[in-house]
Amino acid sequence: MNPQLQKEVARRRTFAIISHPDAGKTTLTEKLLLYGGAIHLAGAVRAKANQRNTTSDWMEIEKQRGISISTSVLQFDYEGVQINLLDTPGHKDFSEDTYRTLTAADAAVMLIDGAKGVEPQTRKLFEVCRMRGIPIFTFINKMDRPSREPLDLIDELEKVLGIRSCPMSWPIGAGDRFKGVYDRQTDEVHLFQSAEANVKGRLLAKKVTGINDDSFKEMLLGPKTDSYDAKELHDQVKAELELLEFAGDQFDHAKVLAGQLTPVFFGSAMNNFGVQHFLEEFIKLAPKPAPHETEDEIIEPTDDRFSGFIFKIQANMDPSHRDRVAFMRVCSGHFERGMGAKHARLAKEFKLSKPLQFFAQERVIIDEAWPGDVVGLLDTTGDLRIGDTLYNGKKIEYQGVPRFSPEHFAGVSILDPMKRKQLKKGLDQLAEEGVVQVYRQRGFGDKDPVLGAVGALQFEVLQHRLKAEYAVDVRIERLPYIHARWVTGEGFDPEFFERREDSRCLEDRDSQPVLLFKSDWGLRWAEENYKKLSFLKTAPMIRGDES
Ligand code: G4P
Repeated sequence: MNPQLQKEVARRRTFAIISHPDAGKTTLTEKLLLYGGAIHLAGAVRAKANQRNTTSDWMEIEKQRGISISTSVLQFDYEGVQINLLDTPGHKDFSEDTYRTLTAADAAVMLIDGAKGVEPQTRKLFEVCRMRGIPIFTFINKMDRPSREPLDLIDELEKVLGIRSCPMSWPIGAGDRFKGVYDRQTDEVHLFQSAEANVKGRLLAKKVTGINDDSFKEMLLGPKTDSYDAKELHDQVKAELELLEFAGDQFDHAKVLAGQLTPVFFGSAMNNFGVQHFLEEFIKLAPKPAPHETEDEIIEPTDDRFSGFIFKIQANMDPSHRDRVAFMRVCSGHFERGMGAKHARLAKEFKLSKPLQFFAQERVIIDEAWPGDVVGLLDTTGDLRIGDTLYNGKKIEYQGVPRFSPEHFAGVSILDPMKRKQLKKGLDQLAEEGVVQVYRQRGFGDKDPVLGAVGALQFEVLQHRLKAEYAVDVRIERLPYIHARWVTGEGFDPEFFERREDSRCLEDRDSQPVLLFKSDWGLRWAEENYKKLSFLKTAPMIRGDES
């Protein structure tokens, strides 16, 4: 065992924030970076919106819409802990990329707007985390604004997401009456201060002991100890806390690590309130880099053999170089710049010469990385694909990255028939990046493919990039389907589903059948009537042998 490797693994936390647009992810990210001492960088998260003119052409779309499509990885240190925050795109129409990024995370922070509760995008991202069984930490934000009843929010986590929760802190009022949070672990009260002061430094919370403590009452009630409002608030919080003690789930670290129980924190990212407490608890409770499975082995991060897998590819990030960057999550061993590694799928040597780390638009060459870290590899030969494993020593090949079922579909037609070849090349490459998925119509070969996307904006991105990068003009026509399922099992008859008005059978690039459905009802009907078939939401893993 290499002691340095053990130490580096133990001090790493790699996670992503999942949320619905506008819940405050950018704001929370900024505040987390402040605690990491990356103050000069923190502004850059928001400044991204203004710096777009330095980015590639296709990001025009982002500029026009003021959204961020690309994913970056933010790395910072907090009290000796190395934090890798995988920044997932935060716009309304998210892409498969967002899902894939979660395959590289060891934990997720679910950010919820206290006034809105669990919103659709959060739910979808939550499902991916659930599928992977990673721990989920919840931060309920914007408590300085009028919010829903906290008990109601907790209830929703269970009802809508099906996860048990354990509030670690509890809000005292909300909106104008937001007084702070009660720390259920230590019986301390962090009093809210709205906060320019907090933005610059550490949290200036005052602490008292116990909900029944006179000094707490005084602090809460102020000079007007008999004010009806203040008394009512105190009584309400006391009753809620007692109810939680009596009827709520007890904190259980093992359940948190198994993804069965989510610790919940309340705060206000904008006011930098509750963020530090959250960060400190998160560091304590979140797992260090997890082991990863191959077909016949479980590889511990402390395994001396270096290994990692590609979870994201982005082409043409920099239009002046026309380059292609593959993002690799390091899973085990020590990664060093310039070292050689084996490419599991192609069974050949691969030189890792220019490992990069990204922050917003900046790229920095790094010398080394450890399990949990993410490294950008310049892929000049086009040899790297999503799901590929790179390793050293005895062969390691991870199980790959799943493809996720799209919810938006479209036909694509070309305006100039002479450009058919470019269209195919563009579609192949952009599909590999996860911009869209491309399906064949049965018996049509590559002609008139059907496109699927997780978010509808992807079609615009595709159209724009096909023109900008491949000089192909296309027309995109939306199709009325809303679900796609990969089908496996005996006795599947594609013709039958073709004949039904509600469904259609296509093939993915590996010739696996994919059924599209126009309605929830149609999908349910198929599932209920064809119990011998499996209707899968994710495709069998992307990896290896598909050349
Ligand atoms: P996102 O990345 O999840 O899309 O959300 P973002 O951080 O951009 O926040 C969305 C809006 O919510 C922003 O307001 C932000 O200031 C606000 N916000 C974030 N956290 C809090 C909070 O704790 N309390 C309150 N009251 N507001 C919060 P905006 O008006 O859209 O942008 P800006 O003008 O403030 O930049």
